[in-house]
Amino acid sequence: MAEITTQVLSETLDQVLVIRFNRPEKMNALTKDMYAELTRLLNEANGDFGIRAVVLSSVGDHFTSGNDIMDFMNNPPTSEESAVAAFLGSLLNFTKPLIASVKGHAVGVGTTMLLHCDIVIASDTAKFSMPFTSLGLVPEAGSSMLFPALVGHQRAAKIFLTGEEFSPQYAQEIGLVAEVVSDSEHEAIAIAKLIAEQPPTAVLNTKALMKASRHDAVAAVMQAEFQIFALALESEEFADAVMKKMSKRSK
Ligand code: COA
Repeated sequence: MAEITTQVLSETLDQVLVIRFNRPEKMNALTKDMYAELTRLLNEANGDFGIRAVVLSSVGDHFTSGNDIMDFMNNPPTSEESAVAAFLGSLLNFTKPLIASVKGHAVGVGTTMLLHCDIVIASDTAKFSMPFTSLGLVPEAGSSMLFPALVGHQRAAKIFLTGEEFSPQYAQEIGLVAEVVSDSEHEAIAIAKLIAEQPPTAVLNTKALMKASRHDAVAAVMQAEFQIFALALESEEFADAVMKKMSKRSK
């Protein structure tokens, strides 16, 4: 249990909760235990009057390389009660401002979780990618709806269907990122602190109004994605893609 807790760190700075992925030796790849801890922290922050905003950040050079590939194999999230589904649900239902600080790689869920954040600050080292199809999988976290809605079908299709990586400048151009700076965590915390000084009910109501019109639609899309994702995890295409990745690494 001690190890799980240290793989996700949290600290409160004034009324801002800062959560950091802390598995830098694996580029902060997320395991089911890390999702469970993230969910616990988000749910607790949601009900804590003392927390006015949350920053999602990371230790080391990268945000996260996405779901841990071995964990996908060993603990496939094939039920809606899985740790990853609970985490995505807690993001969708999070009522307070959520600010992300992204440096280095943000792969898969590392990019799709940003679609649920209110403000994303990227460092100039950030690299975004959603290589689901390259892995024989499908987009998750509501991204099959949220990403095309944000950037348009054409640009979303090119990124989803080729698995290509894109730069922080492009992420800003398409509206995924608010600012590109040299120290994204410093800037994200500064913005969170500014928000924490605002009248709290007005802040909560503003976020709720901005998200309300699509909440139920996103929840439905997430459910559909989850069912197809669970099937894809059992497919030959996924097994082949993982084998290919492993054999490339061993060479
Ligand atoms: N799951 C498990 N381990 C991961 C990981 C992941 N998603 N991403 C990186 N790692 C591990 C590597 O296995 C390696 O560990 P090791 O040194 O013990 O072998 C370490 O993190 C460093 O990764 P490496 O691949 O050597 O770094 P790189 O700079 O050459 O490549 C990436 C960076 C992100 C392109 C590459 O690590 C990658 O493709 N990772 C998988 C990303 C992915 O497919 N995520 C799921 C999306 S749905």
